[in-house]
Amino acid sequence: MIAKHQPKRAKVFSIVNQKGGVGKTTTAINLATAFAMQNKKTLIIDMDPQGNTSTGFGIANHERQKTIYEVLIEEFHIKDSVIPTKIPNLKIITSTVDLSACEVELVNVEQREFILRHALKEIINDYDIIIIDCPPSLGLLTINSLVASDSILIPMQCEFFSLEGLSHLLTTIDLIKENLNHDLSISGIILTMHDRRNKLTEQVESDVREYLQSKVFKTHIPRNIRLSEAPSHGVPGIIYDPKCIGSASYIELAKEILDRDII
Ligand SMILES: Nc1ncnc2c1ncn2[C@@H]1O[C@H](COP(=O)(O)OP(=O)(O)O)[C@@H](O)[C@H]1O
Ligand SMILES: [Mg+2]
Repeated sequence: MIAKHQPKRAKVFSIVNQKGGVGKTTTAINLATAFAMQNKKTLIIDMDPQGNTSTGFGIANHERQKTIYEVLIEEFHIKDSVIPTKIPNLKIITSTVDLSACEVELVNVEQREFILRHALKEIINDYDIIIIDCPPSLGLLTINSLVASDSILIPMQCEFFSLEGLSHLLTTIDLIKENLNHDLSISGIILTMHDRRNKLTEQVESDVREYLQSKVFKTHIPRNIRLSEAPSHGVPGIIYDPKCIGSASYIELAKEILDRDII
């Protein structure tokens, strides 16, 4: 008997931290690009009303016709909201500021935490990896992302209050695991905007590694001006300057994730 071919299901990652400005979007954009360059069919979903991921790929507001908002609120087919990026193997679902109304508009909807998870079923076999860039809060948009995910990536800046924020985030993740998504796991913590010359960076890094051990990725992302310049050119850092230290680190991190999560 010939074994039936099982369609491959995408592995879904949320990039989460309730703090703004820690490198979530930069990580989402560059990791998604690095995966696509490794021939993984990749989809990136912009779940932040700020739409920085969409802008980072050079997609202007008027090009964002059917966004994640229409999927969540108007029950549009998610397939119709997927658009290509300039990078082969990499597609995107964009967002606009409309998304900020979501939290209020969904307040009386039943099963509102599961909307993205249900929507993703339609396209889950079309990709190897789906990356969701979350907003800087732990509201309904982030909860929808976590309920729809297999795994979490947590970008973290090595600063004085980072550990406090992290323990709050880990408690929230535990609650979601217990109540809404038993299969959710933490893939790992990514140390971002790392500054070797700063003594505090070193101290926080060593505390985080001691506290969370192997959950912290070996590869950290250095502070690198080229990564912050790239979005204004509408391309990911690793396309804008593939050789800079920031790009090299994201490529290395992508390999570490592919090995760790066996994708
Ligand atoms: N490794 C880095 N080196 C230098 N600047 C960075 C780096 N990572 C992010 N940035 C910059 O820091 C700011 C916040 O990053 P961003 O990825 O938008 O964070 P978040 O999505 O968590 O709010 C942006 O201006 C971004 O360009
Ligand atoms: Mg962001």
